[in-house]
Amino acid sequence: MRDQIVDDLQLRIPTVPLRLISQGAEALIFMTNQHPYLPAGVNPCDVDNPGKYIIKYRPPKPYRHPKLDKRITATRTSSEAKLLHKLYQLGVKAPKLIAIDAPNGLIWMEFLGYQLPDMRYSSLKNWLWLLERESDRDHPVALADNVKDCCNGIGRSIGVLHLHGIVHGDLTTSNIVLTDEATLKPSLIDFGLSSYSGLPEDRAVDLYVLERALKSTHPVYAEKYWEWILDGYHDVHEEDGKRGRKKYSETISRFKEVRMRGRKRTMIG
Ligand SMILES: Nc1ncnc2c1ncn2[C@@H]1O[C@H](COP(=O)(O)OP(=O)(O)O)[C@@H](O)[C@H]1O
Ligand SMILES: [Mg+2]
Repeated sequence: MRDQIVDDLQLRIPTVPLRLISQGAEALIFMTNQHPYLPAGVNPCDVDNPGKYIIKYRPPKPYRHPKLDKRITATRTSSEAKLLHKLYQLGVKAPKLIAIDAPNGLIWMEFLGYQLPDMRYSSLKNWLWLLERESDRDHPVALADNVKDCCNGIGRSIGVLHLHGIVHGDLTTSNIVLTDEATLKPSLIDFGLSSYSGLPEDRAVDLYVLERALKSTHPVYAEKYWEWILDGYHDVHEEDGKRGRKKYSETISRFKEVRMRGRKRTMIG
């Protein structure tokens, strides 16, 4: 099934080398060194990452009616691409949009990240796992200042998103990547479930989803990471002045409610 999907895509873009790097429920993610119209190996976005691009492909879903499927694919593809462009305009770190082919479910975007010492790519999850493995009581490298700064940065990015009325919709530790080995600057990726919302509930759920993701993937240090993320989240709201402070307190009080609801559900279920 998967091979068939890859073959079909490759037939449609025969001159583009494709390397499958991830497969989710909705999309396949390929890495390629081919820009849609520049010579192979050229990367105008990032000279340090020559020829690294991501192609996100939403293949046809056989379980949906073909007409409806086409419409859903085109809508989701274009809304994700629009969001990437919006974030670029806002100056929020996110993959730059390079090309979109909505009817075919294709987005070409900048690759963000680098290879970790274990050769895996620098998602927040992979990076923290590596540090956690190297940590012990005397040398908790997973709690070093650079981790704190990175978590602050993540909180700030989420805060900026929320201040602009955008909710990410799927904040997990795989949907956050470190873009640069030297600065460890984080970036959010995967805006497939993102939307515009002015509701404190939606912002609160965004935060809650990330807190849960941290607790399940990084149980030992999650509390600290979360505290640092919230610090960054708080700071950008504070810097926004009165409006930001108001938004922050609405979101946080709703977040506490969402958390309580979550706890009750876990106790009952
Ligand atoms: N722009 C990007 N730069 C680097 N890695 C990416 C990028 N986009 C996706 N990836 C990698 O592919 C994985 C899946 O992509 P994602 O957009 O999250 O799709 P899905 O909707 O399937 O979760 C990510 O967790 C990340 O490892
Ligand atoms: Mg994802």
